[in-house]
Amino acid sequence: MTESTIGEASTLDGVRFTAQVAVPNVVQGLFRRRKTVTGAAKLVDADKQAVRFYEGLVRKFADEPFFIRVGKDKSVLVHRPEDIRAVLDASPHPFASDPDTKRKGMSHFQPEALTLSRGSLWESRRRFAEAVLETDNPLHSLAQNFLGVAYEAADGLAVGEVTWDAINAAYQRLTRRVVFGDPAADDDELSSLLETLMDEANNAPGKESDSFAPFMAKLRGYVDSAAPGSLSALIAETPRDDDVEPAGQVIHWLFAMGDTLPANVFRALAVLASDAAAFAAARSELADADLDTAKGVAGLSYIAACLQEAMRLWPTTPLFGRVTTTETTLRGATIPEGTQVFIYNTGNHRNRDRIPYADRFAPEEWVTGNAADDWSFNFFSHGTQGCPGAGLAVFLGVAVLARLVGTGTPRIVAGANLRSDEPLPHTVDVFGVRIAIE
Ligand code: HEM
Repeated sequence: MTESTIGEASTLDGVRFTAQVAVPNVVQGLFRRRKTVTGAAKLVDADKQAVRFYEGLVRKFADEPFFIRVGKDKSVLVHRPEDIRAVLDASPHPFASDPDTKRKGMSHFQPEALTLSRGSLWESRRRFAEAVLETDNPLHSLAQNFLGVAYEAADGLAVGEVTWDAINAAYQRLTRRVVFGDPAADDDELSSLLETLMDEANNAPGKESDSFAPFMAKLRGYVDSAAPGSLSALIAETPRDDDVEPAGQVIHWLFAMGDTLPANVFRALAVLASDAAAFAAARSELADADLDTAKGVAGLSYIAACLQEAMRLWPTTPLFGRVTTTETTLRGATIPEGTQVFIYNTGNHRNRDRIPYADRFAPEEWVTGNAADDWSFNFFSHGTQGCPGAGLAVFLGVAVLARLVGTGTPRIVAGANLRSDEPLPHTVDVFGVRIAIE
């Protein structure tokens, strides 16, 4: 087979994909969402238009990946679960997860990131991450400790209205305690430095930020002090190769736990506030659980399903991709070295031709259905470079949700119009949402 055998989208489709999917993803902020731009996108229902266009596009290539021009570059778009699997199972070689735009931006705030690494460096960094995050352990060995931290965060939130600023701040504090322990609990400056670096990264700057050195100094100090009961304590006792500097690795953990996770928890809370049947099911799950133990909370499979379902409906990684490190093949077709391969999560998760429950809240699909085994859903990615913190993230999300739902009934005060009897919107702009716990 040759390149052409997997088909190529028209120039016009390439222009539309670039304009409706790729560019908005960059403009809204690759590393930290921009308030005004995401608000504007919601007003014009940009995500819905993009998903509708994408549904038609993949219908034309029903069964195959295809070439498409994204910007100036001839790229590949994979959309069937089996092709997504072929790509994600072969990361970082020949499908590396450091395409140019991501590398340029991310190296501004985490130059040593695992996700930007290749070869043996990726292997040693990945081993380190999996060992400390206990990726293969259904319940992290420090989970009982983290449960208390999560409950305190939730109790603080339940006092007033839950807004984006409040839940973001609560999770940033939780994150500092989980990663570094109580000495870092009140170190807001640490989180502000990271926010500044990520805001700057959105504009792909070329030179080192003034915030970077002070940020790294703080991280090293906390990692070295290895406060008991925190991930830093585990870092101190985890063997690692010489090319792994822990402070360089924990940066990803900080923003994923402190910023990405609360966006997902907030949307899950919003949808629970608007769906009486789901809320009742969550409440009844709580009634039968031992909420004092980490094991009991980890067993809240329905609430975990609500969180995962919110992540399917509104993925915080709407579009991601790989770049080929060498000429390779996909479905027998030749893919040249340096080709970008795209996976459009929002489009795949909401494709009405393929997902019968595309636009409705269907937590049961994660409990008794096969959603958990479906490689169409990549909010945590999959395969060798799948999120090594997924288990911990779900635990810390479920613990806060469970505590909030157990405390009172959430009601959306403003910012989201969700109805269980209508297709759910494609955008829930967290910046505008306010939820009361009554
Ligand atoms: C709801 C929260 C989270 C979401 C939605 C999420 C999502 C993702 C996704 C989609 C990827 C793959 C990115 C790519 O290949 O381009 C990823 C990778 C990664 N995630 Fe998460 N993540 C979350 C929380 C966490 C947490 C809490 C941690 C650590 C404590 C973490 C650590 C990582 C790391 C280190 C990678 C890079 C893995 C590699 O390249 O081998 N994530 N995550």
